[in-house]
Amino acid sequence: MTAFSVRLTGTKYGCGGGGCGACTVMISTYEPTSKKIRHYSANACLLPICSLYGAAVTTVEGVGSTKTRIHPVQERLAKCHGSQCGFCSPGMVMSIYTLLRNNPEPTSEQMIAALAGKYCHFLILRVCVSTHAGLCVCALYKLCFPISTRLFSTDEFQPLDPTQELIFPPELMRMAENQPKRTLVFCGERMTWISPVSLDELLDLKAAHPKAPLVVGNTSVGPEMKFRGVFHPIVIAPARILDLNVVTHMDDGLTLGAACSLSLVKDILTNAISEFPEEKTKVFCAVLQQLRTLGGEQIRNVASLGGNIISRKSTSDLNPVLAASNCVLNLASKGRKRQIPLSDIFADGVGNNTITSEEILVSVHIPHSRKGEYVSAFRQAPRRENALPITNAGMRVLFEDGTDIIKDLSIFYGGAISTTICAKQTCWTLIGRHWNEQMLDEACRLLLQEIALPGSASGEKVDYKKTLIVSFFYRFFLEVLQSLKKMDPCHYPGVPMEYRSVLQDFQTKMPQSIQIYQDIDPSQSPQDPVGRPIMHQSGIMHATGEAVYVDDLPSVDGELFLAVVTSSRAHAKIVSIDTSEALQGPGVFDIITAHDVPATNEFYYSDDPEIIFARNKVICVGQIVCAVVADSDVHAKQAAAKVKIEYEVLEPVILTIEEAIKHNSFFEPKRKLEQGNVDQAFETVDNIIEGEIHIGGQEHFYMETQSVLAVPKGEDKEMDVYVSTQHPAIIQEMVAASLGVPANRIMCHVKRVGGAFGGKLLKTGLLASVAAVAANKTSRAVRLILSRGDDMLITGGRHPFIGKYKVGFMNDGRIRAVDTKYYINAGCTPDESILVAEVSLLKMDNAYKIPNLRCWACACKTNLPSNAAFRGFGFPQSALVTETWITGVADKTGLSPEKIREINMYKENAQTHFKQKLDPQNLIRCWNECMEKSAYYSRKTAVIEFNKQNYWKKKGIAIVPMKFPFGLGTRYLSQAAALVHIYTDGSVLLTHGGIEMGQGIHTKMIQVASRELNIPMSRIHFCETSTRTVPNACASVGSAGTDVNGMAVKDACQTLLKRLQPIINKNPKGTWNDWIKEAFEQSVSLSATGYFRGYDENMDWEKGEGQPFTYFLYGAACSEVEINCLTGDHKNLRTDIVMDIGCSINPAVDIGQIEGAFVQGIGLYTMEELKYSPEGVLCTRGPDQYKIPAVCDIPEQFSVSLLSSSQNPYAIYASKGIGEAGLFLGCSVFFALRDAVTSVRNERGLKNTFSLNSPLTAEQIRASCADDFTEMVSLTQVIPTNAIQSFYWNFPGLV
Ligand SMILES: Cc1cc2nc3c(=O)[nH]c(=O)nc-3n(C[C@H](O)[C@H](O)[C@H](O)COP(=O)(O)OP(=O)(O)OC[C@H]3O[C@@H](n4cnc5c(N)ncnc54)[C@H](O)[C@@H]3O)c2cc1C
Ligand code: FES
Repeated sequence: MTAFSVRLTGTKYGCGGGGCGACTVMISTYEPTSKKIRHYSANACLLPICSLYGAAVTTVEGVGSTKTRIHPVQERLAKCHGSQCGFCSPGMVMSIYTLLRNNPEPTSEQMIAALAGKYCHFLILRVCVSTHAGLCVCALYKLCFPISTRLFSTDEFQPLDPTQELIFPPELMRMAENQPKRTLVFCGERMTWISPVSLDELLDLKAAHPKAPLVVGNTSVGPEMKFRGVFHPIVIAPARILDLNVVTHMDDGLTLGAACSLSLVKDILTNAISEFPEEKTKVFCAVLQQLRTLGGEQIRNVASLGGNIISRKSTSDLNPVLAASNCVLNLASKGRKRQIPLSDIFADGVGNNTITSEEILVSVHIPHSRKGEYVSAFRQAPRRENALPITNAGMRVLFEDGTDIIKDLSIFYGGAISTTICAKQTCWTLIGRHWNEQMLDEACRLLLQEIALPGSASGEKVDYKKTLIVSFFYRFFLEVLQSLKKMDPCHYPGVPMEYRSVLQDFQTKMPQSIQIYQDIDPSQSPQDPVGRPIMHQSGIMHATGEAVYVDDLPSVDGELFLAVVTSSRAHAKIVSIDTSEALQGPGVFDIITAHDVPATNEFYYSDDPEIIFARNKVICVGQIVCAVVADSDVHAKQAAAKVKIEYEVLEPVILTIEEAIKHNSFFEPKRKLEQGNVDQAFETVDNIIEGEIHIGGQEHFYMETQSVLAVPKGEDKEMDVYVSTQHPAIIQEMVAASLGVPANRIMCHVKRVGGAFGGKLLKTGLLASVAAVAANKTSRAVRLILSRGDDMLITGGRHPFIGKYKVGFMNDGRIRAVDTKYYINAGCTPDESILVAEVSLLKMDNAYKIPNLRCWACACKTNLPSNAAFRGFGFPQSALVTETWITGVADKTGLSPEKIREINMYKENAQTHFKQKLDPQNLIRCWNECMEKSAYYSRKTAVIEFNKQNYWKKKGIAIVPMKFPFGLGTRYLSQAAALVHIYTDGSVLLTHGGIEMGQGIHTKMIQVASRELNIPMSRIHFCETSTRTVPNACASVGSAGTDVNGMAVKDACQTLLKRLQPIINKNPKGTWNDWIKEAFEQSVSLSATGYFRGYDENMDWEKGEGQPFTYFLYGAACSEVEINCLTGDHKNLRTDIVMDIGCSINPAVDIGQIEGAFVQGIGLYTMEELKYSPEGVLCTRGPDQYKIPAVCDIPEQFSVSLLSSSQNPYAIYASKGIGEAGLFLGCSVFFALRDAVTSVRNERGLKNTFSLNSPLTAEQIRASCADDFTEMVSLTQVIPTNAIQSFYWNFPGLV
């Protein structure tokens, strides 16, 4: 669907593959026989438009708008501060709206399910809170805010009134009732869509076109066509055929049509479970178990049962459990019908068996379970919800009547190899065996022998998968033991108490959150908005989809679309570029290469250049070689795929930090800081530890991908550039330089940015130059919107680190000497890597005073895409290294990590390792308050108690302090300017150099102007940031936007007020409008610029001394987690954050920043994993492979308190810049996980030290919780499985 062409721009494009939910719409269909209307949410990006014949589509525009009336869902999302950058807000609205259309009083489980398919690096928690606010039961609401200080008031909310909703279009209803169903055929440019209405017709079609896929939900065929170049000239859509939609209850089970959606299957099974006796529903329960977490709700609403089965993907969550449960497929082809067990299609181990290309699946028979039969399903995914499984399993056992002797056993695994696989031999061998420990032992050995996984090539999780294979079986073993006990408690002892908790999977609950902040002084004027929780200025527009981003801009006459062609080699000479075939493509206008750049193609901000188009050689996979411009996005992409580039591979290809060190490949300069006498101190300490930690990179995953619209003006080489950037001035500079025109001809405009996190600086400059060069060459407007895959491939992200450390300390925990080295993977160009290295050194001490300290950092030059600035800028990595050695010292001394932290924390006025003074009073206050608010010690005792009572599940708790220095290191980088106009009607137009990217800067600036001019916020408007109104603005980075622009806005407003003062003095009782009118009549200028020179910051790297920061933020976070030792899965139970951010200008916005950054930190430290092939190709290029935190990862209890009575003399209104600091506190989850793992290892007598890397994924947790299963897996690497002796199971208390 192309919302663009109908100007419905509220539906956003975030990934194109059904993974992010930004494009969610509501589909409504009418069923004439039942006269029922069905509403369901769906991802527009995968919905074939032909499938919508007769359906009504509601986009966010249809829900409510500022022109008509905003819907209660939109109102709550905005007013409860549930939007930041706003790009994903329409998708959130549509999911909740659809839920409410179907259930005006939804349960929190239903709300969680509705939000599970949503991606946002910002604020999923805030959305949960907004969704709760007044839309559902009050009790839940109270749980959310059991404190007096509120971020919003529910009194003003409109109630939900279902009678106000749009009705289903009567003409569609009439059409459904009156028009006989007939075959529909739609012919497109390249494809034909045929939708038959009878089974016979379908079989004829399939016989005629055996290669044509049957498309129902398009969730498998769609991504293959979009991303893997598969093309189908004909598709057949069988969804309207009754036989494929049957739901029949039979004596022995349920028969479900193959076209039934997975949501429908879920509902039917849920009902069946409540209707049938428990004994008969074990298969249903097991299938339901998988359906709960399979995809997101939008996927399940359209994806079909048949599609999931027939796709035969290795990641199918249904095939293993359906196959194990003896489900039967009803197949048909022209003149033939037959039934086969589903297990047959996996019989040859590669999933190729049995079904011919003419055959279709009509329905699936899911049998009732029998007496003595037990069925279970398991899955482990990189994230608990809406993530494809790493490994899954379906298992069924049938016992001889009244015994524990195995009569029949069925085990299927998914995710292990390219399709679902059956452990046939194992099952046959175990028939006749008792369900006991000997059987378990043999089963595990047989399974490992039978399920042979191919060796690990590109970091495939082979060992983890093998461990899961046996761990899942063990879990099944325990479940069945427990069921046997239930059946016959006298004969079967069941599972020991301490094992039982592992039988329960982690559940996602609606997070309960508390926000505490200091209310404003009661004497503050009611009109003065500073310090109040004001809604984001664009909140309502976000929620209604009216907020405009670059790709929403109307098309310009003659506009062309640009698609980039990128290098497929990491390091190679370009031998030739053949564009002939691409140029023949439909709608292709031109191909742009380095030769078309009129002036600068290489930008030297340091010794090595940043490059627009690769000229003679490529230095990473994903480097832009050339670009195609065509009349549509599709044509441009099709042609781009036809450009042929011949390469000659160059050596060496350096991908990792280790390889860079080996080849001495670094960007200069390397940096070092030193204080005290480190070497001497090492000689006097009681203990020394040495170690290293690897910290992976992180994808920015802003929701709005890189976007540019370059519009040549036709005169004087002027060009307007509409761009999603956090630094318009650098875009202007780079575009002007590339075109060889003065900067005054290039106007950059930024209305708002759909998230940036540091990723929209230099990289955006290069992309804007690509578009501008194309626009210049073609004299046409050129639009460049990167697909998610290209964005992830091209733009790099957070720098991976290796931190090596040597730490000397006394037995009482005092750390005396530290020597650390940070190697950072900069990628192929310098970008800001040296700065990142510097900041990592300046902030590495975190909250600790180390008397003798030496630290080094160097940026490794590799053949990966160049990494860039990212929220926190090196601090999240170097401080994680610090906290790692802190815990290392705790391990060695036997003291707790919090004791080591306390002992070494800055306590009194002190100097950093580069001689900057600091007063740590608020650090101590945050720490103590966090200790108290989290009830740390009593909860730690409870954790210890829990761990004693639970063998396979363990809890962990950790508290981490933070000192976050604020500053940009040098004065000129923090200068800022503003421009304020007052019009004769008294309205005020404000602009400044800051960029709105979700952090609420414009809202805060309007608050500042409102206070300064003493007028209501409603009289002040912000239009856009532009190089035309504010020249040379510094980038909006480093948490500094509000600080510096706030000063400039204040300055401009004060200038104006000063001019108005004589008029006000003369007529003190006059109104604002009176004064403005008078000022105009007196020829007083009503326009003023404001300027802030910047902070006096400096750093002398030669001396290793300076004042690079202006002030410090402080904070502390305590997190508690629970892990499942069998799978490595974990749940974030609770987090308490206390943060010193001075006097907040807008606590709602600031707390949102803390929460969002914290969750992004959880992503960095525990789940986000970038994977590259050995050739340097990024494999994780979309939300299906790269997992950022979702609703299931928000701590169940989450509290953020702002430290009261904190002042900051250096920033506007005593506030502190808060954009980045919260991210690091996500590491409290990392250390809580470490605590849980430590407890496992201590219990198992694994006393040797262990190191954990970031992200601390389920795979790593599982591997660190070493047990007989992991040992068995590692033994199979070296000796044949059948040669492994029987295990003496170390687990206490088994039968
Ligand atoms: C974002 C996302 C997340 C996902 N997460 C999960 C997950 O966690 N677990 C999981 O198991 N799956 C997951 N999936 C996969 C999804 O479940 C399957 O793609 C879906 O079930 C396929 O059904 P469909 O109707 O969309 O198939 P379509 O794409 O319409 O068709 C798929 C294939 O099945 C064939 N086919 C369909 N119906 C029939 C029939 N009746 N007879 C013969 N052939 C037929 C078609 O010819 C085609 O080749 C996910 C998919 C997406 C996009
Ligand atoms: S754009 Fe459709 S799900 Fe991401």
